[in-house]
Amino acid sequence: MIIDKFSELDLDNLMDFLDDNITENYEKGVFLTIMKRWPEGFLVVRSNNKISGVACGAIQPNSKLRVLIIALATEFRRKGLGKKLLNMMIEESLDYGVRKVTLEVRKDSQAILFYRKLNFSSVDVLPCYYQDGCDGIVMEKQI
Ligand SMILES: CC(C)(COP(=O)(O)OP(=O)(O)OC[C@H]1O[C@@H](n2cnc3c(N)ncnc32)[C@H](O)[C@@H]1OP(=O)(O)O)[C@@H](O)C(=O)NCCC(=O)NCCS
Repeated sequence: MIIDKFSELDLDNLMDFLDDNITENYEKGVFLTIMKRWPEGFLVVRSNNKISGVACGAIQPNSKLRVLIIALATEFRRKGLGKKLLNMMIEESLDYGVRKVTLEVRKDSQAILFYRKLNFSSVDVLPCYYQDGCDGIVMEKQI
């Protein structure tokens, strides 16, 4: 298992991974845009020629890093890998003067506990933010 930068060649594998591991649907092309804007912050977990995890984000003009997706295949969770991916992304963002990390998470997601553990606080609620009507919680942390 290695953590590597995302490459265009990973795109089909990434789409398969996301189908199996997250509820939201993304257009394939979005990932090429995310990669072009900030390739250093687009990380994948490779294992047996498959993608088993991903973390990507965007640098906002207001010194904020926005985490767009962080997800691991079930068998790779709760081993410290999510924390590692997030910290690697944050580390990459420091070159851009980032001072704050922000993200949205489903109100019904266990991931809220993960982010709290990493010192994120809930700062806002986005009513009916997700396709199925679930509220979004905005979480942030100062770095
Ligand atoms: C959220 C996710 C990326 C976390 O990654 P992970 O590798 O499982 O988390 P880690 O092992 O790095 O955990 C870091 C800390 O958070 C805690 N934590 C992680 N998941 C947790 C959970 N579901 N409940 C309670 N605590 C949790 C861990 O106990 C750990 O604490 P510690 O440092 O004191 O040991 C992963 O669970 C996942 O892919 N979930 C499905 C996709 C998803 O929901 N993504 C987020 C959408 S915004």
